[in-house]
Amino acid sequence: MKALVLKEPGVTAVESVADLVPNAQDVVLKVRMVGLCGSDLNSFRGKNPMVSFPRVLGHEVAGTVVDGAGQFAAGTNVTLSPYTSCGTCPSCLRDRPNACQFNQTLGVQRDGAMTEFISTPASKVFTANLSLKELCLVEPLTVGFHAAARGRIAPEDVVAIIGCGGVGLGAVAGAAQRGATVIGIDVDDEKLRIATAAGATHSINTARESLHDRLLELTAGRGPDVIIEAIGLPQTFRAAVEEVAFTGRVVYIGYAKEPVAYETRLFVQKELDILGSRNALPEDFQAVIQMLEAKRFPVDEAISSIIPLDQVPEALNAWSNEPARVKKILVDLDQ
Ligand SMILES: NC(=O)c1ccc[n+]([C@@H]2O[C@H](COP(=O)([O-])OP(=O)(O)OC[C@H]3O[C@@H](n4cnc5c(N)ncnc54)[C@H](O)[C@@H]3O)[C@@H](O)[C@H]2O)c1
Ligand SMILES: [Zn+2]
Ligand SMILES: [Zn+2]
Repeated sequence: MKALVLKEPGVTAVESVADLVPNAQDVVLKVRMVGLCGSDLNSFRGKNPMVSFPRVLGHEVAGTVVDGAGQFAAGTNVTLSPYTSCGTCPSCLRDRPNACQFNQTLGVQRDGAMTEFISTPASKVFTANLSLKELCLVEPLTVGFHAAARGRIAPEDVVAIIGCGGVGLGAVAGAAQRGATVIGIDVDDEKLRIATAAGATHSINTARESLHDRLLELTAGRGPDVIIEAIGLPQTFRAAVEEVAFTGRVVYIGYAKEPVAYETRLFVQKELDILGSRNALPEDFQAVIQMLEAKRFPVDEAISSIIPLDQVPEALNAWSNEPARVKKILVDLDQ
């Protein structure tokens, strides 16, 4: 089979790899389209310590069932959850397999979907009445939906999302689906435009506006009930606890790349709920699928380009040189 292999940091190639040998009980999929996200870019740049080399990339998958293991009809288009869960760690025992201590994400700790065929347990497969490009958007949007669930977001909440990139955009849509008033925050007007199309009612560009002043103005001086951080910078990690309302909730999705110093007095004085949010649960997949089936998400605006497999090495180089210019690249394996 042909596959896109990350051979070492900064070096990818389309190569021949061993043919798939599936387990009898697994579903076999012909891969049709795969999305690339910031995590793939991180792996490409050698900044993801969980990746070993060589590695086939790809975890945002649209595929067609070849062998449905008795559960899915051949020819059905599906997407999948790229995570594993061990069943015995503290997270799994608490029914939170999304945060499994021993998770192995497709394309990260094990070979991914940027190839011709893959196999996966039936429990990881989701059917949906969606196009291939919509199926590819399901997984990246689930991460933000899970954060909205972790923040217990309800219609009466004002929710601020710091960072409206691929992950933050899902949080914007997830909070909006839950009926909240959503404030999108970014330094890039194009990202804020898409966030508005995905359900943000207000936006703040912190490259030219004061975050503190604008948030107070939009919340009658109280601060947002919930702040979701989706970047991973020390200053935005701190801003979340500084700007959130008293007794509010802070949800961190961003992975900080360095230690963050805090005024921890605020945790206590405001009596905050400070929550981490990692990956997503099956119910987050179902919620995103429902939103996409209802056409309540700006699919075309969220995609920058659709390219064939052969062009991935060049596209990753270009993206790495100018990260801000890319939203979502989809790879069409049919081309
Ligand atoms: N928790 C999880 O399960 C999970 C999963 C995937 C990714 N992540 C993490 O989520 C974070 C976001 O990932 P992404 O793929 O959306 O990245 P991204 O680069 O696409 O998005 C980041 C956004 O933040 C904006 N931004 C940058 N600096 C800013 C600042 N100072 N103020 C306001 N906005 C700013 C950028 O313009 C961009 O729109 C990363 O830290 C990533 O590691 C977490
Ligand atoms: Zn991704
Ligand atoms: Zn586990």
